Amino acid sequence: MPNSGIVLAITGASGAIYAVRLLEVLVAAGKTVQLTISPAATEVLHHELGLKVDLDNFQTSDLLPKDDLTSDDSKLRLMRPKLHASTHSSSVFSDSEILHRAPLGEVIYHHYRDYQASIASGSALTEGMVICPCSGGTLAAIATGQSQNLIHRAADVHLKERRKLILVPRETPLSSIALGNMKTLADAGVVILPAMPGYYHNPTTMQDLIDFVVARICDQLGVSHQLMKRWGTAQ
Ligand SMILES: Cc1cc2nc3c(=O)[nH]c(=O)nc-3n(C[C@H](O)[C@H](O)[C@H](O)COP(=O)(O)O)c2cc1C
Repeated sequence: MPNSGIVLAITGASGAIYAVRLLEVLVAAGKTVQLTISPAATEVLHHELGLKVDLDNFQTSDLLPKDDLTSDDSKLRLMRPKLHASTHSSSVFSDSEILHRAPLGEVIYHHYRDYQASIASGSALTEGMVICPCSGGTLAAIATGQSQNLIHRAADVHLKERRKLILVPRETPLSSIALGNMKTLADAGVVILPAMPGYYHNPTTMQDLIDFVVARICDQLGVSHQLMKRWGTAQ
């Protein structure tokens, strides 16, 4: 059945790098990404990554510098400039996948107040939605059914249509209110996937830690990748 891709919402929790890396990986995997960004997320993107994102005049290059997606090397490695110093970089694809890889996916941007956007309605099919990172505010709004912006509305749509919805909260410690909101949503079928990297894959760089979280999101979305070594495998 035709669908309009994966919805990615970026909200104002710390960990903007997870969102940018996830966007890179999804585009590199040939996925259509329906992207929406909250105003608080633009503050975090600027504070943590130095990225300036204009929500009223968004360009994909605000998040993914053009050469990230056009040079052959970056197509294969897709590393963020800040992380180029890594000597232990992971690749998005295996060698055979590189030879037969899909064309880059498309990014379709929606303003966070645009309720005319396709993703505001259950009639637009999608492969699922991920909110990465997910602030405590957005978590609360979804858990209590408040549709105050397109991000909350699209999440509501995924809930009511019983489609995959993945939230990537980043907060510590967690209040009983946040824990309660997570329990409410988990009981409703939402995947709560905290930005909480493991250490059993012996990470040596920041990129390894970022890719651990992005890999687990991709697993939930059914997007194949080679971002990290899987437990119990040789490679
Ligand atoms: C630099 C920065 C870091 C923040 N980090 C977090 C965080 O880790 N978790 C969180 O829940 N909120 C965090 N906040 C607060 C949220 O951005 C704030 O609650 C905002 O209202 C969330 O709005 P949104 O859900 O529409 O993006 C941070 C804000 C800033 C400016």
